[in-house]
Amino acid sequence: MINLKNANVLYQNKDYQKYLENIKGCEKQREFCHHDLSHFLSVARIATIKSSETGLNIPRDLIYTTALLHDIGRFVQYEDKTPHEIASHTLAISLLESLDFNSNEKKQILDAILNHRNPEAQGFSHIFYESDKLSRECLDCPVATQCDWSAEKKNLLIRY
Ligand SMILES: [Fe+2]
Ligand SMILES: [Fe+2]
Repeated sequence: MINLKNANVLYQNKDYQKYLENIKGCEKQREFCHHDLSHFLSVARIATIKSSETGLNIPRDLIYTTALLHDIGRFVQYEDKTPHEIASHTLAISLLESLDFNSNEKKQILDAILNHRNPEAQGFSHIFYESDKLSRECLDCPVATQCDWSAEKKNLLIRY
């Protein structure tokens, strides 16, 4: 069995659940992509494939934990316009305290969160950046024509 111990401990965390609820509340009327468990798991699964394709072989628990955390500050952005990679990074620092990662692993996770909107990111952060974008199913989106993503950025083919 694949060990996703930390990802599951995180998902059960009371603060984590509260932040997820906050995002859900903010996105109730949102027509465009949501930032929910389904998005987080799509990113995690694509990043898992990319991690093995590139030979980086990042531990799966680390990938899933990063995916669960990367947009968790999205509600802060809706509330006060703080860029959500910064808000997510701040919230992730305390959420990671209850998880069993060493300091090097925590740094990888936090760097990937902070850089998930940075096209210049390197290593795991780059894989994560790409996986986040690839997770959106533009080919089946009813509001694709109103979305501000460029035609090149939109996922119009099934690739992962
Ligand atoms: Fe994001
Ligand atoms: Fe995302």
